[in-house]
Amino acid sequence: MIQALALILLPLIVSYVLSIVYWNRKSGSSKINLPPGSFGWPFIGETLSLLGAALNGTPERFVRERIKKHRSPLVFKTSLLGDSIAVLCGPAGNKFLFGNENKLVALWWPSPVTKLFGRCLITIRGDEAKWMRKIMLSYLGPDAFASHYAATMDIVTRRHIQVHWRGKEEVNVYKTVKLFAFELACRLFLSLEEPNHIEKLGSLFYVFLKGVGALPLNFPGTRFYRSKKLAEAIRKELMVIIKERRVALKEGKASSSQDLLSHFLTSCDENGRFLTEMDIVNNILLLLFAGHDTSTISITLIIKSLGEYPDVYDKVLKEQLEISKGKATGEMLRWEDIQKMRYSWNVASEVMRITPPAGGSFREALVDFEYGGYTIPKGWKLYWSAVTTHRDDANFQDATHFDPSRFEGVGPTPFTYVPFGGGPRMCVGKEFARVEILVFLHNIVTNFKWDLLVPNEKIEYDPMATPIKGLPIRLHPHQA
Ligand code: HEM
Repeated sequence: MIQALALILLPLIVSYVLSIVYWNRKSGSSKINLPPGSFGWPFIGETLSLLGAALNGTPERFVRERIKKHRSPLVFKTSLLGDSIAVLCGPAGNKFLFGNENKLVALWWPSPVTKLFGRCLITIRGDEAKWMRKIMLSYLGPDAFASHYAATMDIVTRRHIQVHWRGKEEVNVYKTVKLFAFELACRLFLSLEEPNHIEKLGSLFYVFLKGVGALPLNFPGTRFYRSKKLAEAIRKELMVIIKERRVALKEGKASSSQDLLSHFLTSCDENGRFLTEMDIVNNILLLLFAGHDTSTISITLIIKSLGEYPDVYDKVLKEQLEISKGKATGEMLRWEDIQKMRYSWNVASEVMRITPPAGGSFREALVDFEYGGYTIPKGWKLYWSAVTTHRDDANFQDATHFDPSRFEGVGPTPFTYVPFGGGPRMCVGKEFARVEILVFLHNIVTNFKWDLLVPNEKIEYDPMATPIKGLPIRLHPHQA
């Protein structure tokens, strides 16, 4: 009996001692006042607990349980996949991280992301990153984008609905909207219109994406290895498109404002420096990734909420019909129309509050600094969690209740609502996403009503919010 007990306990004690030695050596910081918390098991840390909570659709549970357990509302330490991490909690944590970019902290992404995307906006820092963001925002930012591209978005949306929704009784929303969001990105970034070309790029791209959240094990048979190979194939394909465009621009057959690619090829800094072709390829790869999954999720979840709350659907439809009434038959949506979609955007915002497509993101400590009475050592990673502040009753009364009116008037308190992040690294595609979501919403509610085929379908974070069955719905077209 004692022997059996020893056999069970010994490995546990050895693992426990090893994990203390491992983490003390790794952080090199046994004497400094680290935040409370646990590094968990050697190497894997507390990754499995976070994964469990995320797959259950409640990533905020991971943060809440630790705040309670360690009695530390501002910050706690943990470890994910071998990295020491300080989780900064609540709006104060968001404010601190967004306000200290390039001073105490800088953007950081896990190694599979940096290895797959290469040199691009999210893998560089400082002045270089500022320059790249400036170039992107002069195409994607609110001043430039919405005023020029609402009509193009409307054209692509109408065609998508004609091909993939009209005449169908049932649709898997997530799968179908993914096709739409990818086609839209191909059109606005690269002027690709030929369906076979888009389909070919899409088929490479979807498999490539599977490696972005995988372990960076680079040998045949792993997801990461396959993604690396596919990233090369996509880069080759993009390089051909770039070369052709360069020639077209030279010959006056393409314009510098026709899409993001032309914009990248013709934009330079004050010293006349242009982006290299590899910078352009990598940034387009990044934007295809960042720009289609998140909007797909938002549109899918909005369709889910409108199916769940018929009164909200009716109000959105009323607003959108008002807009249609003011337009001639066949006239495309314009910037002014988008500005009138106030209630619809409040609905979209409430959907992104309850389920932000991206749960949060990371930074890295550039120096040792103090936070909440504790020391965060240089090199540690920092995590902020949108889903935790969004689902906290302290920030949003009755936080689980769906209520678009929260966004009326002055809206939420600063740093409580952060689906697009904040500060100098805030999402560059926010305006693109806003117009894309609203144009899609306009077209879908003015054409259809729908029933959800899986009531209360569960949403998991893997790593982004996704309905587990892809949201199958039954369509009811409006009678003409
Ligand atoms: C509803 C849709 C979207 C959501 C919820 C979303 C959310 C986010 C979040 C949370 C971040 C990280 C911010 C941070 O770390 O502080 C981010 C960054 C980024 N997003 Fe989005 N995004 C959306 C759509 C888009 C679109 C449509 C594009 C491209 C057209 C885009 C491009 C990017 C890029 C390039 C970054 C990196 C910015 C940088 O590091 O400087 N996103 N987004």
